[in-house]
Amino acid sequence: MKYVIGIDLGSSAVKAILVDRGGIIHQTLSVSYPLIQAKSGYSEQDPDVWYEKTKQLIYKLVKNFKGNVNDIEAISFSGQMHGLVLLNENLEVMRNAILWNDTRTTEQCREIEQSVGKERLLEITKNQALEGFTLPKLLWVKQNEPEIFERIHLFLLPKDYLRFKITGELHTDYSDAAGTLLLNTQEKKWSREICQQFDVDEKICPELVESHAYIGLITAEFSEVTGLSSNTKVFAGGADNACGAISAGILSEGKALCSIGTSGVILSYEELDKRDYGGSLHYFNHGDEDAFYSMGVTLSAGHSLSWFRDTFAQGQTFESVLAGIESIPVGSNGLLFAPYLVGERTPHTDATIRASFIGIDAGHTQKHFTRAVLEGVTFSLKESLDILRKHSNNVNTIISIGGGAKSDVWLQMQADIFNVRIVNLYSEQGPALGAAILACYGCGWYNSLEDCTRVFISYEKAYEPIAGNVSQYEILYELYKEIYNSTKKISAGLRNFEKTREELVNQIEYCKQESKVHS
Ligand code: XUL
Repeated sequence: MKYVIGIDLGSSAVKAILVDRGGIIHQTLSVSYPLIQAKSGYSEQDPDVWYEKTKQLIYKLVKNFKGNVNDIEAISFSGQMHGLVLLNENLEVMRNAILWNDTRTTEQCREIEQSVGKERLLEITKNQALEGFTLPKLLWVKQNEPEIFERIHLFLLPKDYLRFKITGELHTDYSDAAGTLLLNTQEKKWSREICQQFDVDEKICPELVESHAYIGLITAEFSEVTGLSSNTKVFAGGADNACGAISAGILSEGKALCSIGTSGVILSYEELDKRDYGGSLHYFNHGDEDAFYSMGVTLSAGHSLSWFRDTFAQGQTFESVLAGIESIPVGSNGLLFAPYLVGERTPHTDATIRASFIGIDAGHTQKHFTRAVLEGVTFSLKESLDILRKHSNNVNTIISIGGGAKSDVWLQMQADIFNVRIVNLYSEQGPALGAAILACYGCGWYNSLEDCTRVFISYEKAYEPIAGNVSQYEILYELYKEIYNSTKKISAGLRNFEKTREELVNQIEYCKQESKVHS
């Protein structure tokens, strides 16, 4: 039997799966790493940590493998989107990678809109300038770290750096390049016009390839440290959302996905570059050749729940935090949550808005708050779905993956809030499986990605909307939509009180010293 490895370079961990040619998963492993958040709004990671952790992971995978290592034929990748990795002429990393959830670049976004023009930017890239995307990060480095900017030899996206370390080859694929704001998505070329506008030398943009493209063999070093055969082939891979879509079979018109990871997305397959969302949804090249997908993003989806647990239920597992929420009524007894912990993308592109609980009553317990968090995240995703529905009326089933698909209550809640049939996957592996499917297709084992998913994917259960819940959620959703405008001004005022992480640490230290002096 032949095997492939799918690697998903996520925001909090790298995950690897070993899959055989028939789609059976033989191993699933992951190792986590921290976010570096030196200041409020900053989010960085050290690319060399990604590589070190991946080496450990693949070493372990090979060690656990009982078969012949020469049968592990190929690797491919999925990765967190938009992150900026900068290399100098010795191809060394010049600074920490600035990640998708870093929001320091509002000023650079306005500059992009002014210089290129909002309309022209949409024509070329199909997207608006958002803090998370790569070009604003590049301009931030240009303005704030000119000594680094001048020495840039090449930029890469996160999974491309990992692939570079594993193969020695430098590329990016269209699905990830689409999230940079430097790609002409229709022509599938780096936009000379945008590069020239910002004095970005086109030579720093990596060579573009398809997600299933063959890149080369792994390096002797990677083979030696992991135990993989030196004949292991490497295929390019794609953006995590494109790979998540592939893993759920979102490979033909009319198919839609709800993925709740750190961020949450509502995504729909687009056969052709034909729809015009005017920037209200992201519009990116798919990992499926020449196809696209439209997508709305809730920045803190699973993150809202993990933040809630880490802050208010420390030491509890997700299972125990979620236990019993099915007995809390729809609407959490009058408690609403808006998940703007790090700002928002869709439908409100606003890096400064912050989250809120509204309607707190002395009778609310931790379970009410937990249910309100899930409901708030799902309302936020419904706002993306509404935009999608305005442009196409063929969304009648949504495949749900990620953390949101691990809970029966959350799956039913999605069906009730979205008022659509929700289906989950049997043995869901997320974007890592999308990466593995790209590798299988790259190896020539299947005639198309879709052929491969027919063998690899099966659906587990369908959740139908419950009429009584749907009508209650409709009323609550109207109230939820009021939160953004009602709290915008308050959020803006509160930003003046926001301390940097460093200031907060100093303040805590100061309080500790004071209490020692007084005790
Ligand atoms: C998409 C986005 C996130 C990241 C998460 O635009 O920023 O979904 O890809 O890894």
